[in-house]
Amino acid sequence: MNVETIMTATTDAEAAKRRLAFQKSFSQEHGGAWRRKSLIEDAKFETAANIEFERQERKSRTGSISEEEEVFLTAQNGDVIAPMDKDAIKRQFTVMIALKDGMGSLSRVVRAFETSKVSIDHIESRQSRRVGSKHEVLVECNGAKDTVTAVMNTIRQNNVVSDVWCQSERLISRHEVWFPRHISELDNCTHVITKFEPELDCDHPGFTDKDYRHRRKQIADVAFEYRYGQTIPRVQYAESETKAWTHIYERLKTLMPKYACQEYLTAFQLLEKEGLYTAHNIPQLEDVSNFLKRRTGFQLRPVSGLLSARDFLASLAFRTFQCTQYVRHPSKPDHSPEPDCIHELLGHVPMLADPMVAQFSQNLGLASLGASDADIEKLATLYWFTVEFGICKQKGELKAYGAGILSSYGELAHALSDKPEKRPFDPDKTAVQAYTDEDLQPLYFVAESFEDMMKKMKAYASRIRRPYEVRYDPFTSSVVVLDDKLAMKKLTENITLDVEQLNRAMAAI
Ligand SMILES: [Fe+2]
Repeated sequence: MNVETIMTATTDAEAAKRRLAFQKSFSQEHGGAWRRKSLIEDAKFETAANIEFERQERKSRTGSISEEEEVFLTAQNGDVIAPMDKDAIKRQFTVMIALKDGMGSLSRVVRAFETSKVSIDHIESRQSRRVGSKHEVLVECNGAKDTVTAVMNTIRQNNVVSDVWCQSERLISRHEVWFPRHISELDNCTHVITKFEPELDCDHPGFTDKDYRHRRKQIADVAFEYRYGQTIPRVQYAESETKAWTHIYERLKTLMPKYACQEYLTAFQLLEKEGLYTAHNIPQLEDVSNFLKRRTGFQLRPVSGLLSARDFLASLAFRTFQCTQYVRHPSKPDHSPEPDCIHELLGHVPMLADPMVAQFSQNLGLASLGASDADIEKLATLYWFTVEFGICKQKGELKAYGAGILSSYGELAHALSDKPEKRPFDPDKTAVQAYTDEDLQPLYFVAESFEDMMKKMKAYASRIRRPYEVRYDPFTSSVVVLDDKLAMKKLTENITLDVEQLNRAMAAI
């Protein structure tokens, strides 16, 4: 990496840090105004914060903001990472130039770059083995694709050059959204800005209970200190907390056979068979996480509260589910205004123990990486109406697969009764449907089958506009961005190996 590249990288990293600090300055823990927020509203919040960040960055660079820029920012409507114009998308190119007569003619080539204002980052030369050329020059430069192509055409016409070709290109737009590339970077995805916390929400049953608030904070603080690779700290649950678990567990068990989908029932039976789930003991996240790792490769990670939509979805890309560890207020065991470990353990965990659901959840997470704020908002809405409150048809009957339904006695009976409105699941329509998180849901989306829902979601995710494709590498627990020839070559090799193995397996049977 040359000096200029290092400087660019530093600038990008600093900008990312400034953006994060700016978003945090808006949030409650940094004194921002409190209001009830949902995952979707979080995404909207991030959008507003990003637009304001862009406004201030532009102001600090030029001292003022033009009318044109203001109109652009106002019109973003959640799509702030979309480029302002074609030139805002910058790519880094590695251009190879074969010189007929040696290095003496290099200055002519450099002048062509200078004239077209394509910035050169790095130049190297070597002796050429090509017939008709003495030297080859490698030029790393960055600019808009059309401009670099034009420079290459100009150079190609120069009589000192025998050939010009592009060896690689990658996107380096300054609008690129940061996302974790390795599972350990989820340590940076703990941005809790949505809170239904007892200190702040007067509707929270623990609002006036000082002891409860202290206990909840104690458990949340331990989660806040958690870092990747550590064992999840065990919680010694108090009698009142275990009592809430027992109450909900026993009531839900009576309804499950009638209302829960088959995937949930199968996994729940397995969790009981393994001795992890019993009515009289709140399972420890570490034990459940180890169970999930064996079943589907998913793992749990403790979290101190409700995460921002972007951070939460990003963790799914790494087969990681961020789980709260504290328990709802004992006075209202049937309802919690915020997620608690009873919701996570009885709602989400059994579904994550199903291999198909695990893959679906990871795909949803991968689709979110680098997506625009507007797309994150839509994905969070889809998450709400599927993973949280989804209903599907199984053997001609309606069954719940959403964790918000499966972990709530009241919601389970309500969702599958005739009272709420039900519409067919259609990702394009569902993604823009407003919802309420105050009470029982007035509207549910029903999928023709569980598989049909996943198929439609997969098709929806594939249409999300993103300048690159990403892929999960399970061997290194990393996300690979497929934006250069080398990454695509490796993918091709892996697919070839898989196909060869499939052929051998088919031949063997
Ligand atoms: Fe949930």
